[in-house]
Amino acid sequence: MNLPYAEPFRIKMIEEIRQSTREEREQWLKEANYNLFNLKSSQVFIDLLTDSGTGAMSDRQWGALMMGDESYAGSRSFEQLHQTVQKITGFKYLLPTHQGRAAENVLFSVLVKEGDVVPGNSHFDTTKGHIEFRKAHAIDCTIDEAFDINDLHPFKGNINIEKLEEVYKKYPKENIPFCLITITCNSSGGQPVSLENMKAVKELSDKYGVPVFFDSARFAENAYFIKKREAGQENRSIKEICKEIFSYGAGMTMSSKKDGLVNIGGFIALNDEEVFRKASNFTIIYEGFITYGGMAGRDMAALAVGLDEATEFAYLESRISQVEYLGNKLIEYGIPVQKPIGGHAVFIDSLNFLPKVDRSEYPAQTLGLEIYKEAGIRTVEIGTLLADRDPETRENRYPKLELVRLAIPRRTYTNNHMDYIAAAIKNVYERRDEIAKGYKITWEPDLLRHFTVQLEEA
Ligand code: F0G
Repeated sequence: MNLPYAEPFRIKMIEEIRQSTREEREQWLKEANYNLFNLKSSQVFIDLLTDSGTGAMSDRQWGALMMGDESYAGSRSFEQLHQTVQKITGFKYLLPTHQGRAAENVLFSVLVKEGDVVPGNSHFDTTKGHIEFRKAHAIDCTIDEAFDINDLHPFKGNINIEKLEEVYKKYPKENIPFCLITITCNSSGGQPVSLENMKAVKELSDKYGVPVFFDSARFAENAYFIKKREAGQENRSIKEICKEIFSYGAGMTMSSKKDGLVNIGGFIALNDEEVFRKASNFTIIYEGFITYGGMAGRDMAALAVGLDEATEFAYLESRISQVEYLGNKLIEYGIPVQKPIGGHAVFIDSLNFLPKVDRSEYPAQTLGLEIYKEAGIRTVEIGTLLADRDPETRENRYPKLELVRLAIPRRTYTNNHMDYIAAAIKNVYERRDEIAKGYKITWEPDLLRHFTVQLEEA
């Protein structure tokens, strides 16, 4: 008999989670104004809201935490982190920040000005927020295959080179501060970008004098997909692939809460000295001195170890095969999900799942709420609420896909949890014909509304 796959770790510490009743959950949802961000974690059995900062650290990371150096300037922990980042990315300069969006804030304060355009592959919401906040525009140049959930393209995060060139031809160089490649592409379903595509983007961008930056939150997962799917890459180590990825960029922003395997943190890494100097000033204003940028020394020490672990094949294989395990179960049950299964999450296509709910009544949000009611599982809407209103017309921006994301925290749940999740969603799927009404907004803020929007039954 062939031995089945088993995780390359065992569990040393556990955290209790509790079940609730359907009546309790319905009451809690009403109190939360039908916004899953408003639930208390004690009201959630399995939390798939995000894979960001929710993973488990290793014994090596906890050990490193105890060795953290809390010096205000020039700490040993900063040095360890700097060396690790240099080793993995090849970038010379490092500026820690308290999380990924803070890195965006600092870097974009240097590079983005009113009237600019930033092309890329489906920018993440905070990234777009930081661009639009500066009265600039994010232009999505993702390949069209990304928006067909059944297309099995192996690199659905890729940038369409023709679309990118159109942007480069249409706008003056002074108004294109950089092209942003998000790896993996969260907004299009945790889908990877190929090395070949990165290289093509770099070559085209060089021709037009535009630097390339990476939004690297899940860069190690992207490297895993390159190793598994891209011709000629199968014998290279993850670390070798990462080095090549970053060789195509002028710099990166990082949310360490994902592939840094820590609960908080971020950074900017880059090569240009002048950008580094300017970004240093913004780091000091917004984050803290340039050798800690909002992070405790101990957190930088744990991050240095986390980056090293996240770029090991055995870890990535267990991580991504768990996400795939859940995705394949859902496919087996006939549930419409984004294919191929992404790196950090499974995305359910709610337009196909709940065809009776009108788009103006937020079908993805409706499905997320049904899944919570069914089994206490918290997911997140990646649909019209997240896409927000057009900054000029204030009309709803209907995205091509209306998704519910099941983001899997790293090293946190077992495959029994995956079976439970799949069964719960199957139950909702079996009663999908009874779900015809969605929700309407009773209050929303001006920007990034999904975090605090309030809803009622339509
Ligand atoms: N870029 C990407 C691709 C992200 O997915 C995120 C966060 C950020 C930047 C911002 O980083 O949270 O550390 O400030 N994504 C989380 C998520 C929140 O749930 O997907 P942050």
